[in-house]
Amino acid sequence: MWSDVAQRPAVPAPLATDATDAPQRKASAVTQGFLQIDRLSKAFVPAKPVFADVSFTLDKGEFVCIIGHSGCGKTTILNVLAGLDTATSGTVIMDGREVAGPSLDRGVVFQSHALMPWLTVRQNIAFAVKSRWPDWKKSQVDTHVEKFVALVGLSPAIDKKPSQLSGGMKQRVGIARAFSIQPKMLLLDEPFGALDALTRGTIQDELMAIVRQTQQTVFMITHDVDEAILLADRILLMSNGNETPEGYRPGGIAEVVVNPLPRERTRASLHHLDGYYALRNHIVDFLVTRAKAH
Ligand SMILES: Nc1ncnc2c1ncn2[C@@H]1O[C@H](COP(=O)(O)OP(=O)(O)OP(=O)(O)O)[C@@H](O)[C@H]1O
Ligand SMILES: [Mg+2]
Repeated sequence: MWSDVAQRPAVPAPLATDATDAPQRKASAVTQGFLQIDRLSKAFVPAKPVFADVSFTLDKGEFVCIIGHSGCGKTTILNVLAGLDTATSGTVIMDGREVAGPSLDRGVVFQSHALMPWLTVRQNIAFAVKSRWPDWKKSQVDTHVEKFVALVGLSPAIDKKPSQLSGGMKQRVGIARAFSIQPKMLLLDEPFGALDALTRGTIQDELMAIVRQTQQTVFMITHDVDEAILLADRILLMSNGNETPEGYRPGGIAEVVVNPLPRERTRASLHHLDGYYALRNHIVDFLVTRAKAH
């Protein structure tokens, strides 16, 4: 594949990189800056913040991925956006309100599935659905739960408990649960990490279809460069904190890459698209050479 990269003609301006500008899509003033993250930092150890000065925005309906090496602080950022952790400094504003705690407006899929082990798949998801719509009748909850379980291909396992499921199946329950509450925003922490390639592909396609249909706003962590290129409108490249001759430098968003590929892209067509290899190389180069030393 790499030799193929060299043979391809250079694509004019494949990457628009800008740390602040939103992508040039049809976004009205109302939907721009739906999520605003301003100068976020987090220090578990006072003198050595994991990251500092992290600022970015997400427009409504936008899909943003963040990529970076282990330990740079991706999950920490996601937890702060979810309201599950607090930042040392900085603010997060969603839909005009400061995020100050967890909310059913945000659906979270955790890096590890976080299901309630004593409840079945149906009960795990119904628990979330009933929290979201407390007035719903049982039949309404059942129909809704069954729809989202079917979506992730788990109907045959709907009455099983997490201990009876594989890692990938548990992860799919987590995905169904996050989708089922129809949140204003989805926060996904490597949601497909535990899935085999085939299931991963199918669920990526499903996720893309639902997100496009529902104009869902998504912030997703991934380690998979192709997954980011397939799904994201913009990709945030995050660097690790590191020691430099001038002292410790916290991690942060080193660059924001706007995905130039047409939004109608599919897994099968991705690597035939002009600009794909340039984009891929750019991200891989970042991970290899810049992510840990800046
Ligand atoms: N509760 C905590 N107490 C102390 N340190 C923590 C805590 N949570 C995270 N850290 C540290 O903060 C850093 C960032 O962790 P985080 O889980 O956000 O990384 P990540 O980018 O999601 O990594 P991975 O790709 O491995 O999931 C790590 O060095 C981790 O050890
Ligand atoms: Mg993580």
